[in-house]
Formats: sequence, structure tokens, C-alpha cells
Amino acid sequence: MIEFCGIELAHPVINASGCFDVLAARERFGEQLTRQFPFAAYVSKTVTLAPRAGNPPPRLWESPAGMINSIGLPNPGIERYLDEHLPVYAGLGVPLITNVMGSSAGEFAALIETLADRAEVSAVELNVSCPNVATGLDIGADPRGLRLLLEELRPLTQKPLIVKLTPNTADVGACASAAEDGGADAVSLINTLRAMALAPGGGGPWLGGRTGGLSGPAIRAVALAQVASVAERVAIPIIGMGGVGSGADAAALLEVGARLVAVGTENFRDPAAGSRIAAELAGVFAENAD
Ligand code: SIN
Repeated sequence: MIEFCGIELAHPVINASGCFDVLAARERFGEQLTRQFPFAAYVSKTVTLAPRAGNPPPRLWESPAGMINSIGLPNPGIERYLDEHLPVYAGLGVPLITNVMGSSAGEFAALIETLADRAEVSAVELNVSCPNVATGLDIGADPRGLRLLLEELRPLTQKPLIVKLTPNTADVGACASAAEDGGADAVSLINTLRAMALAPGGGGPWLGGRTGGLSGPAIRAVALAQVASVAERVAIPIIGMGGVGSGADAAALLEVGARLVAVGTENFRDPAAGSRIAAELAGVFAENAD
């Protein structure tokens, strides 16, 4: 068992927000999904106060050893999330972390207050780092703004608050430290690196949102460096992510200071990646113990 912000988890591998669609997986895998759920906790895709349609297509580009997405946080809004998604997520048999994004402190506050008395939700992750929306990124790269946001949100809930940090900043350690000072219980990193792809044959940027976020093995070394630098700056637990595709990748993030590891882009290639990586990680621990 792993302890994380007072929550007990069967192992240290969870999913990265937006990288495992439980509703789609349930349609495809049925009851098997809950019998063999691949993660020790489920992190929802970002939910906002009002519904969002997301960015115009195209939304994806395959790049060397990675993927650039410009999804733009499409979601049904908090009301439909509570009515339609939450009952499904609550039946998964693992703790639920709900990821939220507000375009102002007031929107974040409304989301936190709405979730505060929902027993199904074990923790809330604040997405202050999506590169694909006009708001959201700025505050995540501004230590003072982050501290003030956390100071405002902290009194609104007893639930652990996890801050999802952006790598698109000069000093991620300063942002993590500011989140901790403001009252965050944990930080998670890295979200995607801002990136661009040009349309083949000309015509400017390929993605409908012009730029997107790079993920996958291409960002693994960046994630390792940023998690290591944050671990030197904060005492709160860290969820490390970025290009994790194997138990060895997960073990590396744990070695530099992460408490949990999240699997993102690899889930699109292998929906059972979470279980596989958790088993490989257990093998790495067993080998190291010998
Ligand atoms: C998106 O929906 O644009 C991706 C989510 C994120 O990068 O936070």
C-alpha cells in the first residue's frame, strides 16, 4: 500500500488526466474494466464550470517519439459531470481524483465548493497548466499568482488539493514552492510542452489551435529533470509524469523524488499500460531488494 495525501493506494501508478477515457473503455471492455482497472486511482479529464466544445480540428499530430495535442479541454461542464460521469467513476473501485480548470479564481472556487461535499471525490487536481486554452497557463507559470490562488481555494475544502504544474516556465521549482506555500497538498508534473507542427505542403500550422502540447517518450528526460528539481524545493508529495511507458521509466521518476507516477500518452497505444507498468515496477523493486 502507498499513502498519498491520506489516501491509500494499492500501488504507485495512476493515469494522467485526459489520457484514459473510462466511459469509452467501459463500452469496449465492459465489466472487465472494473475487474482489472489498470490504475491505483482514477484521475478524471479536466472539468470546467460550463460545458466546453474544445478546439477546432485537427487536434492531433504525431511527432518523433511523441504526440502534439490541441484538444482544448472539451467537457460537459460540472453539472453533467456530477450527474453522468461521477456515478461511473465512483464504481471503479479506486479513489477518484477530479481534475478541474477555471478561467478565474472565482471559477476555481465555485468548482472546489461544488465538489467539497462529494464523498465520491478523494482529491481535486487543479489544472493551471493546459497549453491549449487562452487562460490556465498564465497562472501556472506565475509563482505569486499560484500562491494567491491556493490561499483563496485552500479554506474551501477539506479535500487534498493537487496542483498540476506546467513545464512551460523558466523555474518550475519556484512554481511548486509557491503552490506549497499557498496550501497545496501535492503537485503533479509535467503537463505537456508547448509545441507546433506545420501542415505538410504548406498552409501554416497543422493544429486547429495553432499550437499544442507535446507528450510521449520525447518529453521523458524533461520530466525527469523537472521532477528532480521540484523534489529539491518542496516537502509535499509529487506525482511525476511525462513519457512513462515502462516500469523502468516509472522507477526513474520515483528515484528522483516522485511519490506516484502517472501514465499518459502510453495509454492510447496500450489501454492496459497502467497494469503492465505497475507489474514491471514491482519487478524493479524486487530486483533492487535482492
Ligand atoms: C487539452 O484538453 O487540451 C489537454 C489537457 C491539458 O493539456 O491540460
